[in-house]
Amino acid sequence: MTGIGYEVPDTPAWRALAAHHRVVRGLHMRALFAQDPGRFERFSRRVEELLFDFSKHRITGETLELLLALAREADVEGWRARLFSGERVNLTEGRAAFHMALRNLSGRPMHVDGEDVMPRVRAVLRRMRAFVEAVRAGDWRGHTGRAITDVVNIGIGGSDLGPRMACEALRPYGRGGPRVRFVANVDGADLADTLADLDPETTLFVVASKTFSTQETLTNARSARAWLVERLGTEAAVARHFVAVSTHRERVAAFGIDPDNMFEFWDWVGGRYSMWSAIGLPIALRIGWEGFEALLAGAHAVDEHFRTAPLADNVPVLMALLGVWYRNLFGAATHAVLPYAERLRRLPAYLQQLEMESNGKRVDRAGRVVGWHTCPVVWGEPGTNGQHAFFQLLHQGTELVPCDFILPVEGHEPELAHHQRILVANCLAQAEALMRGRTEAEARAELEAEGLSGEALERLLPHKVFPGNRPSSLIVVPRLTPRTLGMIVALYEHKVFVQSVLWGTNAFDQWGVELGKRLAGAILAEAEAGQVAAGHDSSTSALIRHCLLR
Ligand code: F6P
Repeated sequence: MTGIGYEVPDTPAWRALAAHHRVVRGLHMRALFAQDPGRFERFSRRVEELLFDFSKHRITGETLELLLALAREADVEGWRARLFSGERVNLTEGRAAFHMALRNLSGRPMHVDGEDVMPRVRAVLRRMRAFVEAVRAGDWRGHTGRAITDVVNIGIGGSDLGPRMACEALRPYGRGGPRVRFVANVDGADLADTLADLDPETTLFVVASKTFSTQETLTNARSARAWLVERLGTEAAVARHFVAVSTHRERVAAFGIDPDNMFEFWDWVGGRYSMWSAIGLPIALRIGWEGFEALLAGAHAVDEHFRTAPLADNVPVLMALLGVWYRNLFGAATHAVLPYAERLRRLPAYLQQLEMESNGKRVDRAGRVVGWHTCPVVWGEPGTNGQHAFFQLLHQGTELVPCDFILPVEGHEPELAHHQRILVANCLAQAEALMRGRTEAEARAELEAEGLSGEALERLLPHKVFPGNRPSSLIVVPRLTPRTLGMIVALYEHKVFVQSVLWGTNAFDQWGVELGKRLAGAILAEAEAGQVAAGHDSSTSALIRHCLLR
């Protein structure tokens, strides 16, 4: 027990950590910084050009030792080796989780079930490259002979969030490429708004679905095809305007897309780990092949770091341990991701799927209900916008919210360099403010300096106090480039894996998405039959009548 109502696993390392937590939880980071002028050096690490500062956390050297002991006890190193050796770490689906092979630029073979998958990976990359270059050069032409100007990616979840996030993040690298849009929601508004100003003659649809059975994606893809065929007047147009990305050749063919226009990936690539596969096709179309390779190279650099660095210097391991420290010992229910880069505005949504679909689990790998908390709610928005919205709660609310600040130092707008300085200053200031806070004495002195005294001062004083001691990490890159984006995403992927090891969960399945899908199918069938079936609760029955049987 931690003494705050949360259980931790009953093992020596967890027990030692819980006992230590009781001793250090009252320490203030201000004091820790004051005691140790070398704190930043001690609690920061680099992965090539990326800096990870974790000095503004409620930890001491002993905390770090105990967290590392936890990682050793859970056999993080053993699990890491299993992951990289292509073992079926996704036990419930009997699959490897081998997304690292997709960006393995080392020439080293990587095996799943005794097969080196690298020749297949490289073959698909070659096909993608040829296609991307043909589209970008205007050599791949639409049915009426015109070049492609717009790409619409139709996919959802892992077949949407990664490419969508990356295309926005890498906008400055898009010169010379087609415009790329994304349709995910089955809400017809999404497709209608996307198609409204598009010219079918110059539009290419990428239907992206690992399973090629997802209701939303197939519904959107069918409607998009009908739109195209109606406007171009022939089914024959589909061949030049539709390509597919999937693991499922037969379903792609059954949908009516020529399997020659399909880019393949494999069941050892999880949906939320798939932006490095052919699912990244829209990214490559947008930023060009060199840019896409740089994205892969950034992720590969982090794979090599994660695979080889000792635990104490291993950034994804440290990120995972810090997450567990707050989730399981302090009871923090949420975790904020705050990119100080407008173009990373979709990163929190991307990380929501990565973290919450991976580790939002209530049973361990053996199927036993766990007695401790797993993944927190992940959320966030870019700074500085968030500062004028929810940061109030981060500073003075009653919840402890550990934060990740993500900061590219340079922008891409030399003519607006002063904006970038303001942005960077704000980011550093927020992390400092969260850590330092403002004591009552400081608040009093400031109010006095403003000329307040007596009752007026006393009335305002408690509102002006910031407790501080609120933890944050800083992930700093020189610039937001394809390479540094690849690095950032891969750090989080491996963090999620390490947390799954610490919590005992399987990070690579997602059974929790099934029940709603099944029930939606049943309700839809009832709506089509015009009759509510027995077995619903009274609320659901009444709502089906109210909304669908009119
Ligand atoms: O419903 C959840 C999910 O299965 C995700 O895991 C996945 O990324 C998404 O749906 C889309 O699946 P698909 O790529 O097979 O269409």
